[in-house]
Amino acid sequence: MFSGMVQDVLLLALCFLLATTTGSMNDRVEKGLLKQRASSPSNITNLTAQFFPSQGSKRAQITYGPFNVPNMNITNGMQSFFQAPVEMPCKDCLVTYIQAGLTYPNGTYANANTSLWLHHVVLYNLNNVDAVCPTNLITGVPGERFFASGNERSPANICINGTNNAGYYIGRNDTIGFLTELMNTEMVNQTAVVTIEYEYIPGLPASFSKVTPVWLDIAPCDQGSEEPAKNGSFQYTSTPWTAPANAAGRITCAIGHVHDGGTHIDIAKNNQSMCDAIAVYGGPGYMDPMGNMVNMPGMTMGSHISSLSECSTGQLNVGDSLTVTAYYNTTEYAPMTNTDGSLTPIMGIGLLYVAVNETSSSTSTSSGTSTATGVASTTSKAAGSIMTVAGGSALFAGAVGGMVALGFA
Ligand SMILES: *[C@@H]1O[C@H](CO)[C@@H](O)[C@H](O)[C@H]1NC(C)=O
Ligand SMILES: *[C@@H]1O[C@H](CO)[C@@H](O)[C@H](O)[C@H]1NC(C)=O
Ligand SMILES: *[C@@H]1O[C@H](CO)[C@@H](O)[C@H](O)[C@H]1NC(C)=O
Ligand SMILES: *[C@@H]1O[C@H](CO)[C@@H](O)[C@H](O)[C@H]1NC(C)=O
Ligand SMILES: *[C@@H]1O[C@H](CO)[C@@H](O)[C@H](O)[C@H]1NC(C)=O
Ligand SMILES: *[C@@H]1O[C@H](CO)[C@@H](O)[C@H](O)[C@H]1NC(C)=O
Ligand SMILES: *[C@@H]1O[C@H](CO)[C@@H](O)[C@H](O)[C@H]1NC(C)=O
Ligand SMILES: *[C@@H]1O[C@H](CO)[C@@H](O)[C@H](O)[C@H]1NC(C)=O
Ligand SMILES: *[C@@H]1O[C@H](CO)[C@@H](O)[C@H](O)[C@H]1NC(C)=O
Ligand SMILES: *[C@@H]1O[C@H](CO)[C@@H](O)[C@H](O)[C@H]1NC(C)=O
Ligand SMILES: *[C@@H]1O[C@H](CO)[C@@H](O)[C@H](O)[C@H]1NC(C)=O
Ligand SMILES: *[C@@H]1O[C@H](CO)[C@@H](O)[C@H](O)[C@H]1NC(C)=O
Repeated sequence: MFSGMVQDVLLLALCFLLATTTGSMNDRVEKGLLKQRASSPSNITNLTAQFFPSQGSKRAQITYGPFNVPNMNITNGMQSFFQAPVEMPCKDCLVTYIQAGLTYPNGTYANANTSLWLHHVVLYNLNNVDAVCPTNLITGVPGERFFASGNERSPANICINGTNNAGYYIGRNDTIGFLTELMNTEMVNQTAVVTIEYEYIPGLPASFSKVTPVWLDIAPCDQGSEEPAKNGSFQYTSTPWTAPANAAGRITCAIGHVHDGGTHIDIAKNNQSMCDAIAVYGGPGYMDPMGNMVNMPGMTMGSHISSLSECSTGQLNVGDSLTVTAYYNTTEYAPMTNTDGSLTPIMGIGLLYVAVNETSSSTSTSSGTSTATGVASTTSKAAGSIMTVAGGSALFAGAVGGMVALGFA
């Protein structure tokens, strides 16, 4: 039922894209094809840039929505929304940092503790071809997946806090698609706004590199990103992906995504672990509201994924084989369930950003990610110990929390 719903929404997405060329949007809306599309224009708030001030960097937050998220009695409180094109803070610019969040329309913070989840959000560049899934067989529309976040809201810190001259380039004519799935654990509908904070540099300075996103997923390209959940301890590994010339180079950073029940997600190069991102649960915002809290001694019920550890730097050479493995243990961390008690599908995504044709330095770093509000910052147990540096290669990051990059559409 859940995947069927996702496919319906992707079908809507396709209809929308076709609508832009074959008919007016209003016609489509009247025919019900676009009924889930939100209509309010985005609002932009300028913020203070943090990195590369000498390059004239800027930071802005953009709102997407508002979205009506149905109550738990309807589709388990989960609903997907697709919009294209969506507002970006800039065109012909290099985006160095992206982080998603969720609020009510009045700007108040929304999270598990208010029964509203940013289950996941993904951004697509419809003008580019995805490095791993060149033809997205679900939508039939090729598009490069360049950002993803789950409710843990890990940033895509592409420039590693301004220490790495790299970013995701958005061209003057690029069309950006937005897919989100929101979840409501109340018995009444709620309305939410997805926020995305972007930091960027106008143009493409000569000393900076464009990154190519590489989306590794436990699910095959023609399936979407969901796999069936199991009870107990289990894992899924992606089919290997071999790096072609146009996606080989220096890995600037990686983010990951797993759902509740996930313990860690490991990205391996040539069968050797490169980055093992550890999931951390709980902390401010990441607990169920008191009324719904189920307290069991020794269990983590009512506590949800709040961050994934992160690594940075590494090298991807032509012919290297990459896999991602998502590890779950529902005895250690309670999984998500539907209203009837059945297990909801899980995900395992690793999104790497590769500065093509560049080579990495031999240093690698790993650190905890923090949540959107700066709370619950954690340090990876994996830091330093799991990364493998072989033949000049090294490693990077993972931040999954449930959505390694949205393909988890
Ligand atoms: C933008 O702000 C206006 C005025 O406050 C509001 O009506 C609208 O819903 C907002 N749109 C989004 C996407 O947040
Ligand atoms: C926000 O920043 C953009 C880009 O620098 C600028 O064009 C716009 O005028 C600013 N808006 C406000 C309200 O300051
Ligand atoms: C709740 O949302 C559903 C679907 O989004 C809608 O059909 C229903 O009318 C809404 N209920 C209320 C009380 O607004
Ligand atoms: C939700 O469904 C249950 C079982 O069908 C029903 O008892 C309850 O009244 C419903 N609640 C709402 C808010 O629709
Ligand atoms: C904002 O909206 C939420 C959800 O409707 C509500 O619970 C909260 O009290 C509101 N906050 C303010 C400051 O109005
Ligand atoms: C970036 O800076 C933040 C805030 O100082 C810190 O928590 C985080 O660990 C840093 N990330 C990296 C990859 O260095
Ligand atoms: C962008 O679109 C305009 C108008 O269609 C066209 O003239 C221009 O060449 C395009 N620029 C790029 C970089 O593709
Ligand atoms: C990785 O291990 C699998 C199974 O042992 C093997 O079939 C495959 O050839 C190995 N791949 C590489 C790149 O070494
Ligand atoms: C939810 O958690 C956030 C972050 O700690 C906090 O600011 C907010 O007040 C909490 N909301 C509720 C309703 O407890
Ligand atoms: C799963 O978690 C339980 C409880 O923490 C632990 O006893 C068990 O060893 C874990 N299983 C695996 C395979 O790690
Ligand atoms: C998973 O296992 C637990 C403990 O054995 C059990 O209580 C629960 O009903 C199982 N859930 C599903 C969906 O099988
Ligand atoms: C990388 O190098 C190849 C071979 O020299 C070249 O064809 C390609 O354009 C380069 N790509 C980038 C993004 O610089």
